Amino acid sequence: MVERAVELRVKRITYEAENINSYELVAPDGAELPPFAAGAHIDLHLANGLIRSYSLLNHQYERHRYQIAVNKDPASRGGSAFIHHEIRAGDMVTASCPRNNFALVEHADRSILIAGGIGITPLLSMVRRLETLGRSWQLFYAARTRRAAAFLDELNTVRPNALHVDFDDERSGQVFDLAGIVARAPANAHLYCCGPAPMLVAFEAAAAARPADLVHVEYFKAKQAPAVGGGFELRLARSNRIISVDPGKSILDALLEAGIAASFSCMEGVCGSCETRVLDGTPDHRDQFLSKEEQATNKAMMICCSGAKSKILTLDL
Ligand code: FES
Repeated sequence: MVERAVELRVKRITYEAENINSYELVAPDGAELPPFAAGAHIDLHLANGLIRSYSLLNHQYERHRYQIAVNKDPASRGGSAFIHHEIRAGDMVTASCPRNNFALVEHADRSILIAGGIGITPLLSMVRRLETLGRSWQLFYAARTRRAAAFLDELNTVRPNALHVDFDDERSGQVFDLAGIVARAPANAHLYCCGPAPMLVAFEAAAAARPADLVHVEYFKAKQAPAVGGGFELRLARSNRIISVDPGKSILDALLEAGIAASFSCMEGVCGSCETRVLDGTPDHRDQFLSKEEQATNKAMMICCSGAKSKILTLDL
């Protein structure tokens, strides 16, 4: 699948919290942007060649802008640091059209939202939507410190008694009680979690006994180890070549070593830039980009991290 890209102008950059800036992106001619729904993200194609995904935090009824927020990660591998240091108001950026792997179930009677740090961004858009719909929601928002928690003032004014904040440095040694939050949630509640990977793993473990369709989580970093067991063959339908994938190699490694041009960026199964059509065979999906339903069709795969369950994979390359 090739996603349509849009060129956007950075209209405004705003300090939101310690190390977190928000970016307002608009069409240069003021035109309406492709629509999105709460939970959606866009991929920014950065001038340094990286592609990074950011959730849209504004209200989905807005068509004149996309708003994202970027946390300058001290371990940045070139995404968040580049945006903080290099992107200025007035610059142009290339972005994918919005894509939603974390959709809000709008008819739910109760929604429990759990955010860790910058994971607040898609949940902020959900809060806005749930308020418009008049639905019941609770937001549990954990951050290192109050100073590092973006959008607190706004959340406090939306519905203060639905907001529960938790800061590492104000907890006197207690751990964030994620398991307790999940355990106390009504049986029919839809649960959403966005935050750092350990939080997501803990959330999924805490919610494991609940029906899968009530549990929603979004990863922006690899959750699973890549499939590098090798021992299978690639048949490339367009170039009419056969390539072996040896143990220790990903499909992408094998292709690049064979001189096949393949696009990639994050190498973690989250950006979608290496998405490749599967014509035959069974992939071993390890990505966070395709939905479970898309993975189950076995019509496409992320070749940076996914492998093969069959001895032969025929790819549209
Ligand atoms: S390179 Fe990002 S999903 Fe494969």
